[in-house]
Amino acid sequence: MKKLVVLLLFGFKGLMIFAQANDENRSSADGSRPYALVAGGSKGIGYGIAEALAKRGYNLILIARHLDTLQAAKRKLESVYSVHVEILTIDLSFERSANEIAQWCKDRNIHLKILCNVAGLGGANDYLSFPLDSLRYMVRLNIESCMALSLTLMPLLEKNTPSYILNVASMAGFAPIPVKNLYSATKSAVIFFSYSLRYQLKTKNISVSCLCPGPVFTKPEIVKDTKAKLGWFGMKMALDPGTVGEVAIKKTLRKKLIIVPGSLAKISSVVIRILPRRWVVSLYGRAGDKSKKRMKSS
Ligand SMILES: NC(=O)c1ccc[n+]([C@@H]2O[C@H](COP(=O)([O-])OP(=O)(O)OC[C@H]3O[C@@H](n4cnc5c(N)ncnc54)[C@H](OP(=O)(O)O)[C@@H]3O)[C@@H](O)[C@H]2O)c1
Repeated sequence: MKKLVVLLLFGFKGLMIFAQANDENRSSADGSRPYALVAGGSKGIGYGIAEALAKRGYNLILIARHLDTLQAAKRKLESVYSVHVEILTIDLSFERSANEIAQWCKDRNIHLKILCNVAGLGGANDYLSFPLDSLRYMVRLNIESCMALSLTLMPLLEKNTPSYILNVASMAGFAPIPVKNLYSATKSAVIFFSYSLRYQLKTKNISVSCLCPGPVFTKPEIVKDTKAKLGWFGMKMALDPGTVGEVAIKKTLRKKLIIVPGSLAKISSVVIRILPRRWVVSLYGRAGDKSKKRMKSS
């Protein structure tokens, strides 16, 4: 009897997930496939996200500054998955970009179901050694473009509910990090924005998620920086962009709010959020000072 109840429960859960998956990827009234827009989708985590979406049958709009990487991404995704990929070369840090992108989508009556705000500037140099232009660029790209695109594309997402917004922050957004002062501040803004926006859009049937990964090896500088600042622990915590993209989309479609891929990163993020802020800032501060000294002596 017990076994029968367990079997029925699992069967029911399976049916619910199947129904949800079908609903997620429902075609529009004219039978066309839904679109997902990935702002910063030509490489790195954005490409991982684009691939996870293509796997699930979504047509794509990829945005980045460089045409060559966009074209390479389009060729790869269209040849492996039978989806259509549009590419737009746009600098997301420009004030006019959010309106231009929304107009482009409206003119083509794009059946937009998912918006992924991925593009962001990180790097080892931060605040005290930053020229004012770079500071403004980071704030505009990491915060403003995500908030502006969410607003200008909302009417399209509202037309195609249930729909989804995925904002890419970082584990760095859970803590004040002196050596990454500005970066962690911009990412915490993205996390807070996502929490509030999710609440505001609940009644509109638009789900908001926020991806907060630890280190993701998208380029050699990140491998070097992770080794220097976080050592063995950081190297164990690091993931590849394909895995991060897959986890991000799976959980976004399940309407999860905060997404931290990887068990070690998940545990660390819980600890960071529980500890008092002044302890966390001092821990990160000391780790940063040590790694600076190590780098100078090597
Ligand atoms: N990698 C990590 O360890 C890590 C960890 C936590 C969070 N994150 C966050 O994840 C996001 C992606 O990081 P990533 O390492 O995958 O970066 P990435 O490999 O450098 O890729 C960034 C993507 O965004 C595009 N992009 C960059 N600046 C742009 C701009 N001004 N306008 C339009 N497109 C732009 C890039 O194409 P173009 O260069 O051609 O424009 C590319 O498609 C960022 O928000 C980052 O803060 C990364």
